[in-house]
Amino acid sequence: MGDTMSLEGTASRELCDPSWPAAVLDHLDTLTAPRAALLKQRLHHQFPLLRSNLQQVYGQHAGFDAFLSAVLLQAVHSAAQRDDELWALDVAREARPAWLHDGLVGYCAYTDKFAGTLQGVAARVPYLQELGVSYLHLLPFLKAGQGANDGGFAVASFDEVEPALGSMSDLRALCRTLRGAGISLCSDFVLNHISHDHAWAQAALRGDERYIGYFHWLHSEAAVAERERHLNQVFPGTAPGNFTWVPERQAWAWTTFYPYQWDLNYANPAVFADMAAAMLNLANHGVESFRLDSTGYLWKREGTDCLNQPEIHHLLQALRCLCAIAAPAVVLKAEAIMPTRELPPYFGLGPVQGPECHVAYHSSLMAAAWLSLSEGDASAVHEVLRNTPDLPEGCAWLSYVRCHDDIGWNVLRPELAALGSDPGERLAQASRFFAGQAPGSRARGAAFQASDTRAVHGTNGMTLALAGLPADGDGSPEAALAQMHLLYALAFFVGGLPLIYMGDELGQDNVAQAELSARQGPDGRELHRPWLDEAALAQRHDPASMAGRCFAMLSGLVRQRRAQLPQGAPIQLRALDSGRPSVLVLQRPQALGVFNFGASPVPLDLAALNLGLTEPALTLAPHEALWLRLPDTRADQPDRAEQAQA
Ligand code: GLC
Repeated sequence: MGDTMSLEGTASRELCDPSWPAAVLDHLDTLTAPRAALLKQRLHHQFPLLRSNLQQVYGQHAGFDAFLSAVLLQAVHSAAQRDDELWALDVAREARPAWLHDGLVGYCAYTDKFAGTLQGVAARVPYLQELGVSYLHLLPFLKAGQGANDGGFAVASFDEVEPALGSMSDLRALCRTLRGAGISLCSDFVLNHISHDHAWAQAALRGDERYIGYFHWLHSEAAVAERERHLNQVFPGTAPGNFTWVPERQAWAWTTFYPYQWDLNYANPAVFADMAAAMLNLANHGVESFRLDSTGYLWKREGTDCLNQPEIHHLLQALRCLCAIAAPAVVLKAEAIMPTRELPPYFGLGPVQGPECHVAYHSSLMAAAWLSLSEGDASAVHEVLRNTPDLPEGCAWLSYVRCHDDIGWNVLRPELAALGSDPGERLAQASRFFAGQAPGSRARGAAFQASDTRAVHGTNGMTLALAGLPADGDGSPEAALAQMHLLYALAFFVGGLPLIYMGDELGQDNVAQAELSARQGPDGRELHRPWLDEAALAQRHDPASMAGRCFAMLSGLVRQRRAQLPQGAPIQLRALDSGRPSVLVLQRPQALGVFNFGASPVPLDLAALNLGLTEPALTLAPHEALWLRLPDTRADQPDRAEQAQA
């Protein structure tokens, strides 16, 4: 037996590359033959990429070779520990990267607000299946800092679940249950910062040199002022500035977000190694996707706004390599709330070329759709889509209407400037509109972080409230429902991964004022972070109820997308000239999407589009959205969206 092992070892060494670290070669020898063989194939492909990406960032460090070897060994260990079910998933997804185009539908929720605990989420799987969900993003559920923690985005431990939500074994069990139901679990992975309660921050506070080096420290007011001159502010209202005085260190920590969220120093290779280990550990618990939070902020460069720096892409591509070695089933999703033109690099389509994230939020599309709604004019969304590239196989846009954050308006500045308008004025107008402060607006949102009414930042509110649903059922909901349908029909038409935000499917309204006052912290985003309405949930099959209408609308769009929009390949999208300012017309293979952002009916000349449609003209109702079939040769009768007819 011993002989056989050593013979296998010797034979298998022949398939190895001598440049692989010795410790990795030794470890490969301990694996079963099939796993070792597959891992070697992955290493042949991934190791050169990993090495070159890490070299770009850390090549100058004296201990680079040891660091590279440790990072790689960690990934190989992780792969070795992967359970059989996850290993099989890896193999399946590796063999068919196009699996990502099989018509995923996402759902995003807070664990506590959706179902109390992770075990509660497992109990709601049938509900998610009924809605048609195949991807579940649970907002941060890892152990968070004490007190205010930015909705869990101040992580105190990557290896523990927040005790009130469950345990790591609950997480493992939930992932397995979800997988069995065809649903991938997505977890936030907050790369940019950690809570000041995290063990690394605590060690730094105690003066531990190793961990002091995990953060960015500034030592004078002048240095802070010089940095601030170039930086933006994420929370100017509730957390002004980007630095926080830490008395224990007699220095300022870099804190882009809240003062208790300390930015990590990725110039330190140990930070990268520890974060990669934390991510692979979660992947081995069964997390299938990571929402890489605030990726645009990861690298600091003096004299710049410290956004979207090239090193970020080397780091993300290195993370992708590690996943490709240790957990190829994993989907990396960039949360880079940046203008459209800044997004392709997060797919590895920028100056730093190579596989990077599989998915990225398209926040410009989301914000532009709301802006267009407020203006009754589709130009903003048309311009954003004109600048949105089609993506290669294995990459997809995440499209959405609402999420737990505000609608950040500033991402639209480049597009609005290109349209020849004054971005500040147009965005401030949108902000007033959704706060219900513009003529004709029935919206019930609120401006976010706006200290002065001319300064534009973001808008908070649930979809229907922003769409002007009359409060307390006092008036007709039809106009608001049509607008909600328009926005979701657009997200489902455009994105490879459309996302439903919890509560929208039940027609939930803003969080009530009394509850807002009772919630911890002054953050205006609480307005759209409701608890799941159990009564509405119970009514979801009643077509006369608001919950029933919204549930039918969104589950209907899921079905209709499956039936009408061909899946299985990346989406190729073309924005056409509709000849009508309020109407957006989009073409995908075999389908046409028509979206009226105006509040008035509008006739549309389909023949003028030269697509061979025999239906010469139609009249779109206010805020109507239609998906029409475009048969290859023969014109078909347009099929109106089920919900639009309802
Ligand atoms: C992301 C999250 C947001 C959070 C911020 C800081 O943008 O979506 O909710 O406040 O990161 O972690």
